[in-house]
Amino acid sequence: MVDPDTLLADALAQVDAAPNLAALEDVRIATVGRNAPLPLALRDVGTLPPEERGEAGKRLNITRQQIEARLTQRQAQLESSALADTLANDRIDVTLPGRAMPHGGLHVLTQTRREIEQIFLDMGYAIAEGPEVETEFNNFTALNIPDDHPAKADSDTLWVSDGVLLRTHTSPVQVRVMGAQDPPVAVICPGRVYRRDTQDATHSPIFHQVEGLVIDEGITLAHLKGTLEHVTKRLFGEDRKIRLRSGFFPFTEPSIEVDVSWGDGWMEILGAGMVDPNVLEHVGYDSTKVTGFAFGMGIERIAMLRHGIPDIRMLYDNDVRFLAQLSNS
Ligand code: PHE
Repeated sequence: MVDPDTLLADALAQVDAAPNLAALEDVRIATVGRNAPLPLALRDVGTLPPEERGEAGKRLNITRQQIEARLTQRQAQLESSALADTLANDRIDVTLPGRAMPHGGLHVLTQTRREIEQIFLDMGYAIAEGPEVETEFNNFTALNIPDDHPAKADSDTLWVSDGVLLRTHTSPVQVRVMGAQDPPVAVICPGRVYRRDTQDATHSPIFHQVEGLVIDEGITLAHLKGTLEHVTKRLFGEDRKIRLRSGFFPFTEPSIEVDVSWGDGWMEILGAGMVDPNVLEHVGYDSTKVTGFAFGMGIERIAMLRHGIPDIRMLYDNDVRFLAQLSNS
């Protein structure tokens, strides 16, 4: 039979000598683990003569408790010195330069749309929206566009089914707004429009417009001109002038094309006019009582003019180097 005192002295020496937690775990296995001498001796107690068993078992158990107590104590010691080490060595150097996180910004078209919206919101306009899949009626008929109008031809319009199409302009939202409310009306309608155009530097089959519509008693072309002058100055600068040229749209009479001064010359920026009485009557307004004006501008065109973007496709390519130059961030 092993001597408990020898076992104890030997085990305690090993525990005290363990340099780290991993070594201490080995010592635990070697001293009180399943196959260590002490547990084996405890198992053998049953083979002793009956009168010796009690005393031997008691001594061995006490020895084990002493070893285990020392193991626990040593473990606590080693853990706290490991923690002290970590605290001493794993310092965060707050003087190191930070790592910059790249962050996104708004697309130049979104910025331009929001700026246009803000200009009109500041004048008390509301923002209206309509669906991109429209009826032929709202897109053409209610706007006084006759069946034989070239814009309706397959070459210009993307048809979804009979009588249903992808809107070719935001003007059908005029029809929806007037159908839903009585005058006075002052809205802008930003949105995406579709045309069966071949893509080149100035054309895209999908682009964006902002429609404007004002209806009330006594609205004249002078209101339209004043409004457009104000908007142009806010978009392009106080020194800008506008020029109205006569134009043609089936839903306005008279119709005008609007140019903004550009260096020594002029740039066309939008189409507009006084809402044709036929359109007012179509939506149930009394054209002898109210009049109004409407206009439609291309957001791409305005963004391109303001930022000197030479090709409309640059707005859709999502080349980050281009977008970052015009980002608002
Ligand atoms: N809808 C016209 C277009 O797409 C623009 C416009 C709107 C003209 C409102 C006059 C009045 O070109």
